[in-house]
Amino acid sequence: MIILGIETSCDETSAAVLSGGRVCSNVVSSQRCHAEFGGVVPELASREHERLIVSIAEAAITEANITKNELDLIAATAGPGLIGAVMVGLSFAQGMAYALDLPFMPVNHIEGHIFSPFIEEGASHRPPEGAFVSLTVSGGHTLLSVVQSDLSYEVIGRTLDDAAGEAFDKTGKMLGLAYPAGPEIDRLASGGDPAFHEFPRALTSHSQSSRSYRGNLDFSFSGLKTSVLTWLQKQTPEFIEKHLADIAASIQHAIVSVLVEKTVAAARTRRIGAVAIAGGVSANSALRRAMKEACDRSGIELHLPGLRYSTDNAAMIATLAGLKVRRGVPTERNYSVAPYASFAAGGRSS
Ligand code: KG4
Ligand code: ZN
Repeated sequence: MIILGIETSCDETSAAVLSGGRVCSNVVSSQRCHAEFGGVVPELASREHERLIVSIAEAAITEANITKNELDLIAATAGPGLIGAVMVGLSFAQGMAYALDLPFMPVNHIEGHIFSPFIEEGASHRPPEGAFVSLTVSGGHTLLSVVQSDLSYEVIGRTLDDAAGEAFDKTGKMLGLAYPAGPEIDRLASGGDPAFHEFPRALTSHSQSSRSYRGNLDFSFSGLKTSVLTWLQKQTPEFIEKHLADIAASIQHAIVSVLVEKTVAAARTRRIGAVAIAGGVSANSALRRAMKEACDRSGIELHLPGLRYSTDNAAMIATLAGLKVRRGVPTERNYSVAPYASFAAGGRSS
């Protein structure tokens, strides 16, 4: 089966072609027009998607060495995301499916991330036979879920305020770093001391009111943000500049240790032997390292997405569409965007 996947939920315009479950092309164009605003401007994002979607889809088809007439299925992100941005990709994909008389599969963006560690590129890399715990950490989401082999899942933890990526981006902004600051904090932290300053880790066994951690799998990062701000206000610009790498490493350590502790606790308490992490923050080198060490200590198998599949991409959308078809999920026509309705497609949240 040859699948064309389309992803336009935020500020990446992407199209990918999969053949027999394997990636033949994955074209991603990251919008640069938002940098001067310090965050994604929804209307600019929609216009950029509109400008690029046709050429990106054509590029994915050409790079895969096929013609559009060889496609068997078209899939696109149907939400959650910026409504105008999602609409561009979804309308384009449904229009193309209609014109070519092909089936269409809507895909939930977060579910796409969840399955990104199982994108096949060269080697076969199918999801585990049994259940796995998924940690999905992006600029908009921080979710812990238990995913079953029939692709259904149960959300067992989520952020009560900011997403993990936001925690990186907003504290990075306080340090004067450009948006999105996550990758820059990662780079700076590699030369810094994570024990330089202890920032708070909410709802964990390390939080000051350690009684707050009683198997609580929810996250909270707003306290960290305030703590970084008030601590920085007490330092001189010279001190901050001199210790930028140490401060970045300390912030990163606070975020990463919470993510690792809760993910491993979830797998252990539920007696699940596999963990998969996904989303933009899963590109973080300290998170990958710490999660691997913690999983190894507990005998848990860890699945990581390839670095280029951590951030938004269409290969994950096409991959999940393929898994759904194999599971007998019916294709659709005339699907509407769902900007917030996060887990309509096959999920179950608690
Ligand atoms: O999944 P994604 O591309 O878009 C959303 O759906 O949000 O995630 C973007 C987020 C941003 O907050 C960015 O700072 C973060 O992922 N990110 C990182 C790294 N690479 C991307 N955070 C920490 N370390 C990284 N290496
Ligand atoms: Zn995403």
